[in-house]
Amino acid sequence: MSLISELQTILGTSHVLMKGDLSAFELDWRKRSKGRALCVASPANTQEVAQVVKACVAHKTSIVPQGGNTGLVAGSIPDESGQQVLLSLKRMRAIQAIDTANLSITVQAGCVLQEIQEAASHAGLLFPLSLGSEGSCTIGGNLSTNAGGTQVLRYGNTRELCLGLEVVSASGEIYSGLSGLRKDNTGYDLKNLFIGAEGTLGIITAATLKLYPKPLSTLTAWVAVDDLERCVSLLTQSHQALGAQLTGYEVMNQFSLSLVGKHIPQLACPFPNSPWCVLLELSDSESQAHASQQLENLLSQAMESGLASNAILADSLQKAKHLWHIRESITMAQAMEGLNIKNDISLPVSSITEFVRTTDHALGQLVPGVQLVNFGHLGDGNLHYNVQSPAHMPASVFLETFEDPVNTLVYQQVKHFGGSISAEHGIGSLKVLTLPHYKDPIALKMMRQIKVCLDPLNTFNPNRVVMID
Ligand code: FAD
Ligand code: MLT
Ligand code: ZN
Repeated sequence: MSLISELQTILGTSHVLMKGDLSAFELDWRKRSKGRALCVASPANTQEVAQVVKACVAHKTSIVPQGGNTGLVAGSIPDESGQQVLLSLKRMRAIQAIDTANLSITVQAGCVLQEIQEAASHAGLLFPLSLGSEGSCTIGGNLSTNAGGTQVLRYGNTRELCLGLEVVSASGEIYSGLSGLRKDNTGYDLKNLFIGAEGTLGIITAATLKLYPKPLSTLTAWVAVDDLERCVSLLTQSHQALGAQLTGYEVMNQFSLSLVGKHIPQLACPFPNSPWCVLLELSDSESQAHASQQLENLLSQAMESGLASNAILADSLQKAKHLWHIRESITMAQAMEGLNIKNDISLPVSSITEFVRTTDHALGQLVPGVQLVNFGHLGDGNLHYNVQSPAHMPASVFLETFEDPVNTLVYQQVKHFGGSISAEHGIGSLKVLTLPHYKDPIALKMMRQIKVCLDPLNTFNPNRVVMID
């Protein structure tokens, strides 16, 4: 029997797509890479995933798992061979259980992040993972990329939010690790191998996640700041004043906000001429009045000491949402502006100012007039240090001529300052050839050994994260 016939028998003909417009599965979110799948297979449950894996292994066919296809490193689309099975987890979107006493929720991998947030909220609790793509990314994708987002400062990356996983292995066996335990020292922590593996070690089919009490009040401020050094100092001051109540600290340079103004003009941005803006969030378990007082004190001190040149405090939930919407629209506005070079880097917070000063300067020498879309999660030392063509240079010419030298320059600088070339988006296919230049060789060797051990036939997402000879 052919593989397609086997998959049709397992899933039903309507869940094995081969014809029609498959671009939603084959084109990456940034529209930079397009592959071609043998078919798109959409299982309904874990048993079907296991059967699909066994069939693909028997036919020596590789599998690319996909959730919401919002990944930014071209890791969730098939290659150009037309020989890979694209395994979409989107039909597997059940909320399986909420345990309010254990503060945990168990969900299938294809659950959209926003649906998990809403389910937690209906139970009076909080699932804190929060990304601009939360309306379409899935928890399986979040786990597989160890996604970060805007609440990492207080709650950690997706890895810190996961208690247990269910995974289909490369032999088609089901590892049932959906434990809600917060303590379990019975050997190697297997779940942490699959988190951040970008679909190269197994298919995540379900997860048990941590929930938190909802804060009583959440307050949001938008602060105008004259330079990045002051943004860093204000972060230090915010840590000191707010402690664990500081839940978000985002920075945006003026050019990144000007793109939002240009492409999404209904999103009016406060202080559009400020060189930098900070979006700061405080979550409090006491009262709204207590939180307001604390934030007002912090902002007036910042203004008095010259760290902030202006500031507003959102006085309603709607206004707070508006401010977050501006921040989260930068990615879309940048995509609307055209193709660009994305650098998702992390550095010790203490080195960020010097990194940006010297890298901005070196890039200006390499590409006179280059435009920098610089924003990110400063509280986590994570910048989206994106590089865009000079105003009058077509993006295609810029990428063809400068993508490699710009990346080399930026990554050398990242290395010099002790940072990472991927803070939260992962490696995918975009950085798979770059990683060996910047990763510790022993770490890379161990990563290859783990890959070969868990997936000896290289069935899962080959040529992503690590290349196997
Ligand atoms: P996909 O894109 O479908 O897949 C991502 C990777 O995971 C691929 O390698 C895929 O093979 C693998 N995978 C997917 N599902 C499974 C599974 N069930 N089992 C095994 N492997 C699987 N990222 C951040 O970290 N922080 C942000 O703040 C952030 N903001 C974003 C804002 C926008 C507007 C956009 C478009 C993207 C943003 N991202 C961000 C990137 C992206 O949304 C995340 O990487 C997200 O976690 C991907 O989820 P997904 O379901 O779309 O995964
Ligand atoms: C963000 O922080 O908005 C995301 O990581 C997306 C991006 O880098 O564009
Ligand atoms: Zn980000």
